[in-house]
Amino acid sequence: MTTTRDLREAAGTEPITMLTAYDASTAAVVEEAEIDVILVGDSMGNTVLGYDSTLPVTVEEVQSRTAAVARATTEPLVVADMPFLSFGVSEADSVENAGRMLKEADADAVKLECGPHTVETTERLVEVGVPVMAHLGLTPQHVNQLGGYRRQGTDEAAARELLELAEAHEEAGAFALVLEHVPANLAEQVTAALETPTIGIGAGPETDGQVLVITDVLGLSERAPPFAEQFGDVREEMADAVESFRTAVEEREFPAEEHSHHESELDDIY
Ligand code: KIV
Repeated sequence: MTTTRDLREAAGTEPITMLTAYDASTAAVVEEAEIDVILVGDSMGNTVLGYDSTLPVTVEEVQSRTAAVARATTEPLVVADMPFLSFGVSEADSVENAGRMLKEADADAVKLECGPHTVETTERLVEVGVPVMAHLGLTPQHVNQLGGYRRQGTDEAAARELLELAEAHEEAGAFALVLEHVPANLAEQVTAALETPTIGIGAGPETDGQVLVITDVLGLSERAPPFAEQFGDVREEMADAVESFRTAVEEREFPAEEHSHHESELDDIY
């Protein structure tokens, strides 16, 4: 079983692999591929729940999906993403909501989209025993403030601020740091400055690990960000399978003899 300590030890030696998953069957495939970390991301809002952002995702939705992923896997570290406004507003709510992910959904850790306001939250959660993965750079829960899903850390002041925030979250006890959509040289600098492992998404090759959203990897997303790579074409496979089913039913090829059974005694009963 992968632990937060394993990730810290892997930093700088072996690339850490992380993918999102939101259900048991996908999580089982991800585990079979020996991925280190499964993130039950609030990206579920866009990818599987039909919202047009991550903002409407609720604690209950992440909790239920995390529980499904945790039931289906034993090896990967399971990280539950804390939804918009479920943390960082009041300390008591942050602890209660994060606690539910560990106590009721069997997550191993939580992820917070971070800013200056989450340094204390991270410290408090770590203090009470909730491992925290900090997420910096493009934080989609701030989409309305950022004016879109834009690259972050692109000028000197913003880069310095990001580095300082990364250091503050390391100091607060975060066990890993996600860096999203930031310049590769900034991610490299943050990675060199921290002992905490960095996991990049759109952050170049020099982070300690890489994460992508599973639907982008599988080729299931309608739209993918420019930094994602499609490693399969599951959408096409699904469309073919569904169309084949329709055709088979319409042409009365399904169900075939092997899908049906006949009870000879029924004639005697009726
Ligand atoms: O919600 C999510 O899937 C994420 C990843 C993109 C890191 O936060």
